Amino acid sequence: MKSYTLTYLFIFVSLISLPTSAWASSAENTYKTVCAVCHTAGVAGAPKLGDKTKWAPLIKEGQVQLTAHGYVGVRGMPAKGGKPDLGVQDFAASVVYMVNQSGGSWQNPDASTLKKIDAEIIRRQAQLRK
Ligand code: HEC
Repeated sequence: MKSYTLTYLFIFVSLISLPTSAWASSAENTYKTVCAVCHTAGVAGAPKLGDKTKWAPLIKEGQVQLTAHGYVGVRGMPAKGGKPDLGVQDFAASVVYMVNQSGGSWQNPDASTLKKIDAEIIRRQAQLRK
């Protein structure tokens, strides 16, 4: 009886962890695991999630600029949110998540927008190296 219970428990845990691991790549989860540590409380002047006044001028900069500059890093904002293996697409998705919680309505960048973001990242990195 006891081992059955354990077996069912194991199956149950495996089943619930399946969708959880797929979800792990979602923008909200990236936000929670990487960005929230600063952007929830506003550490070091980070624009807080949901602070429409702070986000309005950033949203105006546009998706290409804002995503690329955040990815490269700006003052207290560490490059890639401080997670060296965070890809541009995942970073961009968590920016979209933050923007959409803060008064904007952006969509995950399509292929052509991603190309522009990549180009802006290279341009910005070169500028910062000067
Ligand atoms: C260690 C703290 C920290 C973490 C972690 C962090 N940020 Fe930031 N972020 C900041 C700070 C501080 C600023 C404000 C920088 C400034 O303008 O002085 C900022 C600014 C930004 C901006 C605006 C950039 C601009 O051009 O003004 C974006 C976009 C952003 N963060 C996205 C993210 C995303 C997405 C993540 C997670 C993947 C993340 N941040 C993780 C601290 C952090």
